[in-house]
Amino acid sequence: MKIKAFAPGKIILFGEHTVVYNKPAIAVAINRGVDVTLTSRSDDIVNINVETINYSKKLKLNNGKLVYEYDDSQKQITDYIYEVISLFEYEGGFDLSVDIKMYLGAGLGSSAAVTVSTLKALALYSGNDLSLDEIAKIARSIEIKIQGAASPIDTAMSTYGGIIYIDENSNLNPIDFDMKLPLLVSNCEIAGNTGKLVASVRNKYEKYPEVLEHIFTATANVAIDAKKALEDGNSQKLADLMNINQGLLDAMGVNTAELSDMVYQSRKFGSAGSKLTGSGGGGCIIAYTPDDIDYVYVKLSKLYPTFMCEQSQSGVYAEIIDE
Ligand code: PMV
Repeated sequence: MKIKAFAPGKIILFGEHTVVYNKPAIAVAINRGVDVTLTSRSDDIVNINVETINYSKKLKLNNGKLVYEYDDSQKQITDYIYEVISLFEYEGGFDLSVDIKMYLGAGLGSSAAVTVSTLKALALYSGNDLSLDEIAKIARSIEIKIQGAASPIDTAMSTYGGIIYIDENSNLNPIDFDMKLPLLVSNCEIAGNTGKLVASVRNKYEKYPEVLEHIFTATANVAIDAKKALEDGNSQKLADLMNINQGLLDAMGVNTAELSDMVYQSRKFGSAGSKLTGSGGGGCIIAYTPDDIDYVYVKLSKLYPTFMCEQSQSGVYAEIIDE
């Protein structure tokens, strides 16, 4: 039996950081993510391969279960895989290959996509096909266990796909729209620390509450207008709002010289709107490029690791290739 599963990664299109203060935000599942291939074996060996990080390990099932002790001294992407494997009981071993087709630890939700795609494949293999709601819930609890804290955004995007508007009450509402979102994602290859960046914004807020309050309100209005721009298919407005959001994130202190360089280079080459995505301090930018994306991609990828993507309407899915 062979099972193939895929779960998308995500970008935050609008409203990172201010979402922490119950302001609206927009997250987008992208058509780059994590592919999992599971092939059944006739013995009781579990053979795990994660090519992206050159990881390979063979373990033996014990009465159909994988006994695994989570060691929180060294958090690794493989922890998510082991957590998922140890949820189920299996009739036989399997080869599990996890292919991460995006940047790791760069704010694109790689750990959620690994967890969700592995969960979908293994649930199917062990005869426990789970609903999407169950997948989102279990994946989130694994993220919380390993990371200590996790917003529901990454696991929701990997599970359900599409574009989600996170409202003032932290409810996740799908946005109904049919415009294309051709994006470039460039990575400065410096890791930002989400916890520290969230704390630094809080610190600024406590120091200059009146000033930051206005910046937060302006960002909230950007996200509210952006929802309308998406629903109306207004490309120019969407791009303008991304550029405004970037300026506001800079004012919050989470921009860096490298992120700025990527943002301005992409705009110079022809992207209509570009901004950092996620916590900042490093990581990635997104550049909305409705015209000549191939040209901008060639130029930008000479300077920074870059990939092209668009929104993924679909969330996690799996297929049984051969029984
Ligand atoms: O870098 P990411 O994708 O984990 O995004 C962090 C988003 C923040 O708004 C900065 C924090 C949060 O928990 O929402």
